[in-house]
Amino acid sequence: MIDLLPAQTERWQKVESVVRGHFLRTGFKEIRTPLLESTNLFSRSIGEYTDVVGKEMYSFCDRGDRSCTLRPEGTASVVRSVLEHGLLSQGPQRFWYGGPMFRYERPQNGRQRQFHQIGVECFGIDSPLVDVDIISIAWDIFKDLGIVDLELQLNSLGTEEDMKNYKSLLVGWLEDRFDHLDIDSQRRLKSNPLRILDSKNSNTQMLLEDSPSLLESLSSESIERFQYIQNTLKSLEIPFVLNTKLVRGLDYYCHTAFEIVSKQLGSQSTLCGGGRYDRLIQQLQGPPTPAIGWAMGMERLMILLEDLIRPVSNPEVYVISRGDKAKRQALIVSRLIRHKNISVEIDYSQSAFSKQFKKASKISARWAIVIGEDEIKNNYYRLKKLQSANNIKGEEEINVEFSDLNNLIDILRD
Ligand code: HAM
Repeated sequence: MIDLLPAQTERWQKVESVVRGHFLRTGFKEIRTPLLESTNLFSRSIGEYTDVVGKEMYSFCDRGDRSCTLRPEGTASVVRSVLEHGLLSQGPQRFWYGGPMFRYERPQNGRQRQFHQIGVECFGIDSPLVDVDIISIAWDIFKDLGIVDLELQLNSLGTEEDMKNYKSLLVGWLEDRFDHLDIDSQRRLKSNPLRILDSKNSNTQMLLEDSPSLLESLSSESIERFQYIQNTLKSLEIPFVLNTKLVRGLDYYCHTAFEIVSKQLGSQSTLCGGGRYDRLIQQLQGPPTPAIGWAMGMERLMILLEDLIRPVSNPEVYVISRGDKAKRQALIVSRLIRHKNISVEIDYSQSAFSKQFKKASKISARWAIVIGEDEIKNNYYRLKKLQSANNIKGEEEINVEFSDLNNLIDILRD
């Protein structure tokens, strides 16, 4: 779990504001759910035999002896909330969320135990156009942030029936080759055979090259649906590649499954993942409701944006003063200026003016307000425009009476 220091939080805020803009324009409303949920919400939705539920959850008993879990993802919590508040009776719903998630994974670059997701969930629309719409939103966010070299990988898992057929086909095929599988995949053959498809073991991957393809088990309706989605993506000029081994790590998916990956992220290459989950709401005792969503990992996004976003939150005004009365006046004027929505930083040091000026230039303030003995005696502020770090003397110097706040604000806004 990592701390985010100001140099990072400023960049995060910039990204968050770009993302918020997209959600405003696409009609997604923000939902905030608790970090802590009842453990069985996740085991019932994500799947008991997934890695997330089987070995990565932060679960504990609270003082009332209830098993609680720090949320490992957002989808289950959003579904719980939507059901609890009866929102599905109000027609299709589109939500976005952001915040920390927790998984006890082996930490490495792009993988933490506390990480942050921004995600969307869309309920009540079966049309395959929505699948393309929500993929395009993620795609456009990344483009808008200036990220290049992304790959959209697409697959269809079909219906529950399609998946059942495929599972038995795959299990039969793998059982014939049991001895060639790595230990982890041998274990998964019983519990979660589809996950063997994205095994990281290179021998297993080589073996799987000839395995039956999921697409071959799809019904004609599922194939038609998948084809329609591909054609629509093409007409939106969103490039994609088919990845028939993409099954995702959570059990609730059906039909569309997708990931947006970047080679620049190394082994943790998935920046965004999602898909359709038409069965989940019913599984959690809700009415049958089609649903689809995705989540992106903020930390991975920030790795890609490291060189693209520079923090720029320097104060516009730096107040320089010497002497007790001047220091107090510095505080008074700073507060008045802040009330007018202008950012101000105060130098509290007793350093010489020259040193305080240097600091003002270093943080790239636009103006310095100087208050010394003379200024206190004559009731005025001395304003200096600081052009750049190389020009610490500045060009303009203007005196403004203490009482003439309007004039002071006009000058600072100029
Ligand atoms: P997920 O693929 O488990 O999907 O996670 C989505 C994204 O969260 C990943 O692509 C990755 O960027 C980020 N992520 C996951 N684990 C970590 C970690 N340990 N450290 C850093 N980043 C991580 C879900 O969570 C689904 N709920 C997505 C979804 C929403 N499907 C439908 N709606």
